[in-house]
Amino acid sequence: MSNTCCFHQIFLCWCLMVCFYSPVKSDELHLLLNLKSALNKSTTIVLDSWGEVNSICSFNGITCNDEGFVKEIELSGLKLTGVLPLDSMCQLQSLEKLSFGYNSLHGPISEELNYCVKLQYLDLGNNLFSGSFPDISSLTQLKSLHLNNCGFSGVFPWKMLGKMTKLTVLSLGDNPLDRSPFPNQIPKLKKLNWLYLANCSIEGKIPPAIGDLTELINLELEHNHLSGEIPMEISKLHKLWQLELFNNNLTGKLPVGLRNLTKLENFDASTNNLEGDISEVGYLNNLVSLHLYKNKFNGEVPPELGELKKLVNLSLYDNMLTGRLPQKLGSWSSFDFIDVSENLLTGPIPPYMCDKGTMRGLLMVQNRISGKIPATYGNCTTLKRFRVNNNSLSGVVPAGIWGLPVADIVDIAYNRFEGPITSDIKNAKEMGILSVGYNRLSGELPEVISEATSLVKIEINDNQFSGKIPQGIGVLKRLNVLKFQNNMLSGSIPESLGSCLSISDINMAGNSLSGKIPSCLGSLSTLNSLNLSRNELSGKIPGSLSTLKLNLFDLSYNRLTGPIPQTLSIEAYNGSLVGNPGLCSSTFRLRSFKRCRPDSSMSKDVRVLIVCLALGATILLASLGCFCIQRGLKEEKLVIH
Ligand SMILES: *[C@@H]1O[C@H](CO)[C@@H](O)[C@H](O)[C@H]1NC(C)=O
Ligand SMILES: *[C@@H]1O[C@H](CO)[C@@H](O)[C@H](O)[C@H]1NC(C)=O
Ligand SMILES: *[C@@H]1O[C@H](CO)[C@@H](O)[C@H](O)[C@H]1NC(C)=O
Ligand SMILES: *[C@@H]1O[C@H](CO)[C@@H](O)[C@H](O)[C@H]1NC(C)=O
Ligand SMILES: *[C@@H]1O[C@H](CO)[C@@H](O)[C@H](O)[C@H]1NC(C)=O
Ligand SMILES: *[C@@H]1O[C@H](CO)[C@@H](O)[C@H](O)[C@H]1NC(C)=O
Ligand SMILES: *[C@@H]1O[C@H](CO)[C@@H](O)[C@H](O)[C@H]1NC(C)=O
Ligand SMILES: *[C@@H]1O[C@H](CO)[C@@H](O)[C@H](O)[C@H]1NC(C)=O
Ligand SMILES: *[C@@H]1O[C@H](CO)[C@@H](O)[C@H](O)[C@H]1NC(C)=O
Repeated sequence: MSNTCCFHQIFLCWCLMVCFYSPVKSDELHLLLNLKSALNKSTTIVLDSWGEVNSICSFNGITCNDEGFVKEIELSGLKLTGVLPLDSMCQLQSLEKLSFGYNSLHGPISEELNYCVKLQYLDLGNNLFSGSFPDISSLTQLKSLHLNNCGFSGVFPWKMLGKMTKLTVLSLGDNPLDRSPFPNQIPKLKKLNWLYLANCSIEGKIPPAIGDLTELINLELEHNHLSGEIPMEISKLHKLWQLELFNNNLTGKLPVGLRNLTKLENFDASTNNLEGDISEVGYLNNLVSLHLYKNKFNGEVPPELGELKKLVNLSLYDNMLTGRLPQKLGSWSSFDFIDVSENLLTGPIPPYMCDKGTMRGLLMVQNRISGKIPATYGNCTTLKRFRVNNNSLSGVVPAGIWGLPVADIVDIAYNRFEGPITSDIKNAKEMGILSVGYNRLSGELPEVISEATSLVKIEINDNQFSGKIPQGIGVLKRLNVLKFQNNMLSGSIPESLGSCLSISDINMAGNSLSGKIPSCLGSLSTLNSLNLSRNELSGKIPGSLSTLKLNLFDLSYNRLTGPIPQTLSIEAYNGSLVGNPGLCSSTFRLRSFKRCRPDSSMSKDVRVLIVCLALGATILLASLGCFCIQRGLKEEKLVIH
């Protein structure tokens, strides 16, 4: 308070001074040159025209009034750095506009800004200022005030807004301000058409008086700590084009009368605690983008959503919505994406959402959606994500789905799909994740899967795939996870897997794979999990596997024979080797396996023994047991009986 008093005195003093002092243009030149010199030299190249030889009115970024005095300074987006010399700038008598947005200016903003009494437009937004913002109550002519995202902290002087009744644009969001209730000065700014108060620590309720701001076309209150209900007075904002309320803690229902906001194009009330049905939004005929995800909405998706002619983005995930999706949904406009995951939706997938050829995302994970995948999506070459896992979908997957050229995820797991993965997959050049587990898919995996070179995860587990694993799978250099378990795959494990150097998880359990375990698997240094249990693998366990550090290791129930490599004989792997009656143990650690007979011992060990002998180890020692350490490899004990 004392601060403002003091300031008013100074202001008066200054006013008396200037009243007897008629400014001249040469002063303005020096004021501008002073501004230039306050800015960092390395960033003022754009101000090269600012010099003694030019008229100030021809300076880059300067607009003069009819008398040749500076009226506007427009220097936004020029990467300027430095500290603004507000004391001298505000001596520019006729200054009405100061525009410094989108630079890298720093330092505090001082109360001297109050001297810019004629300012109508002030933009300091998107800079790196610090400290709290001063009370600038003198700037009663302001129409636009942009202070968003410029680093102001502490208490904001909300009271000053009471004096700024001409404001049409107020943008204060994205500043780390102290927590504050919704400022009651704001609903009195009747001329406001643009209010950006997102992410600036507003708490408590949205006041019903917000309904007085009938000129508003944009109201953004997202990323705050607002609670309580959305006041029904909001439906008086007939001109509203955008309403952003997401990421607060709003409760209750969507207000009755919301449907009156017929100009609304963008509505986002996601990530709140809202409940009740969403029937009001069905009447918002101009909606382009509707986001209501992460709330507790229930009831049906309004059938009217299917008639919205401009709808482009629809995100309703993580609610408790029931019923069918309107079948004509997204068919009218250049539809972009739908995410209705994690609801209780039933009925078929609306078939026309890609009709305009622009759709990028179809996400309907975890619902009770049934029927087939509409053939139209096989043609939808713009799709980046196709995820319908955990539904009740069935039928044959349209071939084009496998070959979607820009899709990075195709996820249809946990459904009742049947039929094969077709060779169209060779076109899926961007596909990182192919997740089709827990279906009734069948047939052979196409060899050309190796042409889908972006693949990171292939999850085809728990289906009825048969035939061989494509030999070329090892050319997939980014492959990280391979889940092939619980199918009817046969033949051998491809040697080429040894060149999948990024792989960490291989599960081929529960198939009919035969032949040897390729010893090259031992060279996969990133391998963390290897499960080959319940197959028909035979031969010895490759000694190379000893070098791997596996969290999960399972070779149980195969037809493996011969000695178990020493380092695999540890308790953590207990059970990993059961069900292979042909395996034997050469240590005392795995009591459940038969002991290896010396003459059936590993030939390598025999060779080591011979070397031992040849080196002149005593015959006496040899009869008790010879301990040798194989250089470069892990310790291998040889016990002789
Ligand atoms: C001026 O800019 C340079 C390069 O961006 C920077 O290193 C220097 O610290 C800046 N000086 C001031 C006074 O901002
Ligand atoms: C919120 O504002 C802070 C600055 O106060 C900024 O760093 C952050 O990115 C903003 N958050 C969002 C989600 O825009
Ligand atoms: C949100 O509101 C509910 C009910 O009013 C309250 O229980 C909860 O603590 C609030 N959550 C946060 C993060 O403020
Ligand atoms: C919605 O608008 C109609 C017609 O303008 C009006 O009669 C009705 O009272 C309004 N409803 C609300 C809740 O504002
Ligand atoms: C739809 O959402 C996408 C992705 O978030 C965004 O890039 C696009 O601008 C949105 N379109 C409209 C019209 O809001
Ligand atoms: C599938 O969805 C149900 C709820 O509908 C959920 O309980 C279950 O965990 C989900 N299963 C998977 C594998 O995601
Ligand atoms: C896919 O596109 C082709 C060519 O544009 C068209 O002939 C065919 O009917 C389309 N199929 C579907 C199912 O939309
Ligand atoms: C290996 O995979 C099979 C089949 O999915 C599973 O039953 C078994 O528990 C897995 N082994 C381990 C150690 O998890
Ligand atoms: C290891 O397996 C054997 C036989 O399967 C069992 O008796 C023993 O309890 C298991 N030990 C541990 C630590 O799981």
